[in-house]
Amino acid sequence: MRLIKVSDEEELSRLAAEYVFSKIKSSEKIVLGLATGRTPLGMYRHLSKYSKEYKQSYSHVHTVNLDEYVGSRAYHDYMQQNFFDHIGIHKNQTHLPDGIAVDLEKECKRYEEVIIQLGGIDLQVLGIGQNGHIGFNEPGTDFSSRTHVVELTESTLSANAKYFTHEKQPRRAITMGIGTILESNEILLLASGEKKARALRELFQGTMNSDIPATVLNHHPNVTVLADEGARSLLEEES
Ligand code: PGA
Repeated sequence: MRLIKVSDEEELSRLAAEYVFSKIKSSEKIVLGLATGRTPLGMYRHLSKYSKEYKQSYSHVHTVNLDEYVGSRAYHDYMQQNFFDHIGIHKNQTHLPDGIAVDLEKECKRYEEVIIQLGGIDLQVLGIGQNGHIGFNEPGTDFSSRTHVVELTESTLSANAKYFTHEKQPRRAITMGIGTILESNEILLLASGEKKARALRELFQGTMNSDIPATVLNHHPNVTVLADEGARSLLEEES
């Protein structure tokens, strides 16, 4: 696991965008795994700007998102507003789990199939939860899990409650599984702020265990972590 140290959220956003944009520019075909939440917002803002400046085509890009709330299109809307609307990507090249599907089990299987049909994920962008979750894989999730429906923990519900001013916050979500995420060729994890410091310490200095799902990334051969000062504040070498 490589750790790239940045000073603050702005530098994190810019470097993450440069990293992803260079992959988009240099590939003939690429499947990007994308994340939602607060952390990648700045990355999407920069990526949108670079795409306009360089008139970057997205005809060779497919995106697959990590998760969506059950009974909601909150993350569909987030992706549309914060990224897809700004880059001119064709709608049928963007994929998210369908949280309003009637048959959720079938939807989970369909989503796995979508990823297989695309040939797998080349680069997966991840955030990290305060409780160490990746995607919505909460503590205790099996490391071999595939796309599934989860009951969100109180920690995750309260961290994300602020986004639900117009609709009732769902307590369940569909998420790519840990096994699904681990099959990505490459992973870029973004961590910003002191609230993530404990999870980051576990990731780098703890033992691999399902109580902190992100620790499984120690198993993956190609992980880059971009972390700002706040997120690194509990790492031993920093103190
Ligand atoms: P955040 O979420 O970027 O909103 O902190 C990250 C996550 O829960 O994975």
